[in-house]
Amino acid sequence: MQDIKKYVDQHKDRFIDELIELLKVPSISADSAYKQDVLNTAEAVKTRLEEAGCDLVEVCETKGYPIVYGEKIIDKNLPTVLVYGHYDVQPPDPLDLWNSPPFEPVIKKTDLHPEGAIFARGACDDKGQMYMHVKALELMTKTDQLPCNVKFMIEGEEEVGSESLGDFLKENREKLSNDVILISDTGMIAKDVPSITTGLRGLSYVEVEVTGPNRDLHSGLYGGAVANPINVLSKMIASLHDENNHITIPGFYDKVENLSAEERAEMAKAPFSLENYKKALDIDAVYGEAGYSTNERNSIRPTLDVNGIWGGYIGEGAKTVIASKAYAKISMRLVPNQDWEEITQLFKKHFESIAPEGVKVLVKPHHGGQGYVTPITSVGYQAASKAYADTFGKTPIPQRSGGSIPIVSLFEQELKSKTILMGFGLDSDAIHSPNEHFGVWNYLKGIETIPLFYKYFTELSK
Ligand code: BES
Ligand code: MN
Ligand code: MN
Repeated sequence: MQDIKKYVDQHKDRFIDELIELLKVPSISADSAYKQDVLNTAEAVKTRLEEAGCDLVEVCETKGYPIVYGEKIIDKNLPTVLVYGHYDVQPPDPLDLWNSPPFEPVIKKTDLHPEGAIFARGACDDKGQMYMHVKALELMTKTDQLPCNVKFMIEGEEEVGSESLGDFLKENREKLSNDVILISDTGMIAKDVPSITTGLRGLSYVEVEVTGPNRDLHSGLYGGAVANPINVLSKMIASLHDENNHITIPGFYDKVENLSAEERAEMAKAPFSLENYKKALDIDAVYGEAGYSTNERNSIRPTLDVNGIWGGYIGEGAKTVIASKAYAKISMRLVPNQDWEEITQLFKKHFESIAPEGVKVLVKPHHGGQGYVTPITSVGYQAASKAYADTFGKTPIPQRSGGSIPIVSLFEQELKSKTILMGFGLDSDAIHSPNEHFGVWNYLKGIETIPLFYKYFTELSK
């Protein structure tokens, strides 16, 4: 423990500089204009893994972006930890809302990060959190305290649905065999309230297109006499929630796992201030499904949200027009037992059925994935809990997160292993938003905590 702290202290400036170098490359998987940058990032991750002590590192081709695989096998009879992370990032848009360019990392102090935070796209999600594991490996190899085997699988398509990962798992079961999967791609409650994520929501993402007349029309000559696709789409979307903010798609809630009163009471013990929550977002009230608390609404309950909506004239000034088409992108966050493909079909059937005469509706499914819950009794959870207790001086709280990492349920299905989600980000770190950042304190705390996970996991596995 003392060793670990000392090593982190001695090398922290370099740890930060190396992360900053990685953050300079715009590895935006959603935008093909950045293809070369995404590929270059895969190569950079390979080099870093080799430097950190992996004996074998490969950049594995897939139909999409490559998966970087690395390993250090010290003894076949010892347990194996498989680390997963992603080197791709979300698009930085809207650019004008960034206080400094998204791919020119800067360190600035904030109220929550008086020690400074690194501002850049991917700082927290997930380059910063992924790189903690690379530096933890360096620390363990350089100080001669790697207690077990380690494998890395760092992908480049997480932000666009991990399309190539399913095949990769099926084709590489042997290579990826492990005793536990370790991921830092989530958050924790607060710097003084460590938590381990025990649940993730599933996701169904669809795009809808409503077509009215075969061309854009003069809104005076035709207005009132034909269906306006934007009016219609707005009405259809509005009808997807009732007055209690329940989702109206028939069958949507059929398989939703209902938590017992005891479990809900347990959840409610996590420290949370509604006042601070509202203040941080500058809203005067929260909004959501009747009968559930804010923390329940964003973790154990499913949702339906419009992520984007467009059509018609949005340029300067006014144009009197009835557009031929209107569009929206819609995401549904799902909870355990809801099957994302089934929900996608239920959505499609319902959305088509509520279209009025005079328009055509097209529902295009995008990606999706299943939710996940993991017990706090597993060896992995216990090891993580002990590791946090050592570095934070407090036993971490189990927490269900509202975000999605669809591959976690795939891991369980294909590799039969449990995933431990050791996240070190804060909700206020603005992942996917302008001015994403990652606290230097959080980054270094992660590097300090991870080696202890390896230690306890190896001890408890005996
Ligand atoms: N790291 C996030 C997921 C996350 C963040 C989970 C914080 C829990 C807490 C991941 O990179 C992500 O953004 N996932 C997407 C889904 C994916 C299929 C595009 C998401 O949750 O929107
Ligand atoms: Mn992520
Ligand atoms: Mn993300």
